[in-house]
Amino acid sequence: MGRLTLTDLHKHYGDTHAVKGVSLDIPEGEFAVLVGPSGCGKSTLLRSIAGLENIDQGTIAIDDEVVNDMRPRDRNIAMVFQNYALYPYMSVYDNIAFGLRARNAADSDVKRRVAAAAEMLGIETLLDRLPRQLSGGQRQRVAIGRAIVRDARLFLFDEPLSNLDAKLRDEMRAEIKRLHQELGKTMIYVTHDQVEAMTLADRIVLLKDGVIEQEGAPLELFERPATGFVAGFLGSPSMNMIPAALTNGADGPTLRLQTGEALPLPAERASALREEGEREITLGLRPQHFSRAAETLAPGHVPISSIADLIQPTGTQTYVTSTIGGVPVIAEVGAHDVSAQGASIDYAIDMARAILIDPETDKVL
Ligand SMILES: Nc1ncnc2c1ncn2[C@@H]1O[C@H](COP(=O)(O)OP(=O)(O)OP(=O)(O)O)[C@@H](O)[C@H]1O
Ligand SMILES: [Mg+2]
Repeated sequence: MGRLTLTDLHKHYGDTHAVKGVSLDIPEGEFAVLVGPSGCGKSTLLRSIAGLENIDQGTIAIDDEVVNDMRPRDRNIAMVFQNYALYPYMSVYDNIAFGLRARNAADSDVKRRVAAAAEMLGIETLLDRLPRQLSGGQRQRVAIGRAIVRDARLFLFDEPLSNLDAKLRDEMRAEIKRLHQELGKTMIYVTHDQVEAMTLADRIVLLKDGVIEQEGAPLELFERPATGFVAGFLGSPSMNMIPAALTNGADGPTLRLQTGEALPLPAERASALREEGEREITLGLRPQHFSRAAETLAPGHVPISSIADLIQPTGTQTYVTSTIGGVPVIAEVGAHDVSAQGASIDYAIDMARAILIDPETDKVL
């Protein structure tokens, strides 16, 4: 139980067309993450699934049953919000038990389920406290507890970790992933944090302006983005976007930067581009596609030298900003690979992993 099918969903708020024809099929037990920039329609989509918004067009089906006209409480969906929405004058126990009691569960059943949820979340000792006597992370656990005590068909999360500090967010992220493995329920999780999306998802659904830009497994989107938008959204620091020209040199298709450097493509990439002809392109290179050049270059790697304008060590590695092809470019190198700001550095670029984007359509070639 818990397969979700959305077909051609549309939602307007007055003149704002917030969701523009979304179709999505999420199999039972999957962890799907809706991700995208602020205002792209993530919460609207989630609230529509829960029945908290009326949709204008399309169908929402759970286990092949269309629920468009079903009241939210009859849909059997549990939702965790960003602001927790705990009842301030109820104990943790009563907060978690609330949904069960509202559905007339027997007292013994309530007791058993609250105890099981509290144990799973490590909040057994907090059951008598009020929400204001809890830390942010503990409140978040209670909100999750309130959702998981119910035997819901679908679990929806709307940015549940955004109020927490970075360390707690990392911990809770791991806990939510573990919870998914234990419960095996279908979960749909909204975030605008691409790291959260990458680490949690079985499937990422990347939204832009109310439309699905691309969906698939995290590494599929990361390594084979369909558009420049997807390429730039996932990954940290972001992919470098360098204006270039695709030219036909003596050795086949080559990229030429605006500052004149030629970056030949590996044979297998080049042969796929032979039909393209000469054109402007955007060369997408992740910081991780750069390394400090060794004596001999690995296959598919191309050398380029530049000056380190800015150095940002993180401890495990160092981000170096330099100007390449006329634009600032961030490269990730080893912690000790660059000596000082202003120093010259020889990079090897892994051209086998380069992403080539059509600047007019934003489509990846
Ligand atoms: N109740 C509302 N009335 C009018 N417009 C709304 C309402 N709720 C959302 N919108 C608009 O619909 C669009 C999508 O909003 P939504 O809240 O779904 O975005 P989001 O992707 O969740 O963004 P965020 O990451 O900031 O939470 C936005 O343009 C927003 O301004
Ligand atoms: Mg939102």
